[in-house]
Amino acid sequence: MCGIIGYVGKNPCVPYIIKGLKMLEYRGYDSAGLATLVDGEIKIKKVVGKVNQLEKIVVNNEEGYIGIGHTRWATHGEPTLNNAHPHIDCNGRFVVVHNGIIENYKELKDYLLGRGHIFRSQTDTEVIVHLLEEFFEENIVYSFKRVVEKLEGSFALVILDKNNPQSLYGIKRQSPLIIGLGDGEVFVASDIPALSLWVEDYIFPEDDQLAILNPKKLEIYNLKDKLEKLNIKPVKISKEKISIDKGGYPHYMLKEIHEQPTILREIFTEGIEKKGNFFFFKDFKEDDNLWKNINKISIVACGTSYHAGYFAKYLWEEELPYNVEVDYSSEFRYRKPKIDKNTLFIAISQSGETADTIAALRLAREKGAKILSLTNNLRSTIARESDLNLYLRSGIEIGVAATKTFMAELAFIFLLKEYIKQELYGENSINWDDLRKIPVYLEKILSESNLIKEIAYKYSKNKNFLYIARGKNFPLILEGALKLKEISYIHAEGVSAGEMKHGPIALLDENTPVMTIAVQDETYNKIFSNLEEVKARKAPIIAIATENDQKIMDVADDLIYVPKHNSKYYYFFVTIPLQLFAYYVAEKLEREIDQPRNLAKSVTVE
Ligand code: G6P
Repeated sequence: MCGIIGYVGKNPCVPYIIKGLKMLEYRGYDSAGLATLVDGEIKIKKVVGKVNQLEKIVVNNEEGYIGIGHTRWATHGEPTLNNAHPHIDCNGRFVVVHNGIIENYKELKDYLLGRGHIFRSQTDTEVIVHLLEEFFEENIVYSFKRVVEKLEGSFALVILDKNNPQSLYGIKRQSPLIIGLGDGEVFVASDIPALSLWVEDYIFPEDDQLAILNPKKLEIYNLKDKLEKLNIKPVKISKEKISIDKGGYPHYMLKEIHEQPTILREIFTEGIEKKGNFFFFKDFKEDDNLWKNINKISIVACGTSYHAGYFAKYLWEEELPYNVEVDYSSEFRYRKPKIDKNTLFIAISQSGETADTIAALRLAREKGAKILSLTNNLRSTIARESDLNLYLRSGIEIGVAATKTFMAELAFIFLLKEYIKQELYGENSINWDDLRKIPVYLEKILSESNLIKEIAYKYSKNKNFLYIARGKNFPLILEGALKLKEISYIHAEGVSAGEMKHGPIALLDENTPVMTIAVQDETYNKIFSNLEEVKARKAPIIAIATENDQKIMDVADDLIYVPKHNSKYYYFFVTIPLQLFAYYVAEKLEREIDQPRNLAKSVTVE
């Protein structure tokens, strides 16, 4: 969601802001803007559209040494120029960029309108600058305390004050904001990738702390309850070589799909330490007897990560002695979950910043559960608030539609199951040779993507799809349907093949293709019968099947074969054709694949 960057220092700020915003594009947005202070005057530039367009209307080297930039994902008010950030107060003193939602903005706005303030946008954000205008006094820290105390909801804010040209102000509550320290310069941003080209020393402020960002003197204050100055030591994170080129691929998504074999290889080697037949996760030390003491696992996640969690339920309940519950993070609180200190609560989130997942995690913490997370960002809120963390090791994922992080989630779900078995029973059942072959087979599937492209092109004109599967393949088919929806905007309904007869079968006709996973595993015979039912309704069938399966040809119109291997591992294989099918349909339709409409990579509001 919204991306924020701020710079103050010895160099012209605009190039940093533009580049930083480009590094944040992956979060998803619909408009962009920046504000700088030049010769005592605030200059604001905004566009509805992309950062490239913003870049065209700013003059790189003449725009001051202090500035803030923003990419907006609309919540309150349409994506228009007026609603794009930054927002400015009536007298043109304070300018703000904001990520999050001010939940009580209506009451605040009514109050401010009553006080004579003039609003120029429909956003919740604009109340912040008018509140600053209303309450600012000589004591800067106290002024911020008064304003922030009035805000309900989530926010990461960066503020530029025309009367204090040496400093930016940053403050957060439940939305991510990080500070980067350079040489004679300070940065502030939503996320590390925005700064990783220039910065190695980071500060991660906590909620309700005010950062006064002055390159000569950085100050951080606690605003909650007692006002106090804090001494927070920076953390060193080596400059990551995050390239913002696509490595020769037309889209990040395709590049990331192709990175999956390498990521699995790395997880199966670097992610674990082997000792004989046993293995351990790096930097993962649970309490003694954790696995004996828990009696239940509760997983929460959203979107693609939810599908990984749902898959874990199938995989783990088969072999582990626990009941595994899975919830959408946003629904978790509403069913009054019965969890306690004997529950292992697992939050799955590639970004580690998904607001609903954070809220669920905090609820589980209140109830005393042990918290483990799977994230792709060890510095994220979810990772920091967990007792145990498994790091997905996928590198930054830029395409909004998650692909390689899903594959990494599957890998850790598999490894965690084996690890728990090992800790409980003194043995795991990994066949390391079989495991090593998985990335090789994934490469084979990728090398045959031209066939998937042909099939995708053939079906790209269809308006509705049904995606069906059974057992462990069911969460995977849901993920496949989600991929198609996200990037092609085609309606794809994922249903359990067994449920099809109870409703969705009514949708079938010759114009409703059915995508299915029909590999030779324990679901094969039953799914085959379901495909006969589909065929009888004349709906075309695209089947992902095991190499050399001749029988499946009787029912399928189009076949995507995956290599024959230990059937325990097919879930890694079938994932890639589903991703590629969605990708090529979207490509044929000329969609904005890496930044699909209305979607955000990191959903930081509930
Ligand atoms: C957004 C993204 C999805 C992602 C979901 C959960 O909706 O567009 O790709 O699966 O958030 O994100 P998380 O970072 O928690 O895995």
